[in-house]
Amino acid sequence: MASPLPSLALLFLLFSLSHQYPHIKLPSQTNNNNNPCSQQKLTNLHFFYHDIRNKDHPTIVQIVSPPNNVPNGFGSTFVMDDVMTVDPELESKQIGRAQGLFGLTSLHGLDMFMLTNFAFTNGDYAGSTLSMVGRNPIAEQNREMSIVGGTGVFRFATGYAIANSVNSISTPEHFVVEYNITTQERLGLQSMMTDGLELGSKWIGRAQVLLGLNTLF
Ligand SMILES: *[C@@H]1O[C@H](CO)[C@@H](O)[C@H](O)[C@H]1NC(C)=O
Repeated sequence: MASPLPSLALLFLLFSLSHQYPHIKLPSQTNNNNNPCSQQKLTNLHFFYHDIRNKDHPTIVQIVSPPNNVPNGFGSTFVMDDVMTVDPELESKQIGRAQGLFGLTSLHGLDMFMLTNFAFTNGDYAGSTLSMVGRNPIAEQNREMSIVGGTGVFRFATGYAIANSVNSISTPEHFVVEYNITTQERLGLQSMMTDGLELGSKWIGRAQVLLGLNTLF
């Protein structure tokens, strides 16, 4: 059996450090951009997506139908591949696709779950994605969901999305939803890797590390 001593020693070290430096911040509190250990970048995105439910070219398809003995369509599940545009009109510039699953998950109302990947194909974020998970109470305005990650320029991103139905121009066959997304990408530490001791020797790659609480000490 391994000795418990190393971990006790580590706990003691952390305990004494946290007293020595009472201002150690948790990741959720770090917003001091002057501190190289906690540099963060905020990105705001604004776009619309279009649920098309017509017969010929639907972008939303129901894949699970609820049994008869449950209220509110509970359990109905859909898959989506919606066009994302910069303006509310479907004819406006397309910037990507909103792909994912959603379904009705409330016995008492019209709440949905959303599992959505926003895949950007045009503009500054082309080739990158953001992933959203959340509860979507569709009858409400300013519905907030979590951005839980991303790829490409959005690596390490976290944030939130605010969704609003654009009722003024929506029809049952073409439903428009406005999204405002705020993400935060933590800037990592980058070090060059060389095959010799000198920086001038051959570069063989980069070592990238996300700075978190553990490395703030
Ligand atoms: C979303 O962003 C647009 C454009 O920046 C802004 O006009 C609108 O007020 C925002 N809506 C919300 C709910 O934040």
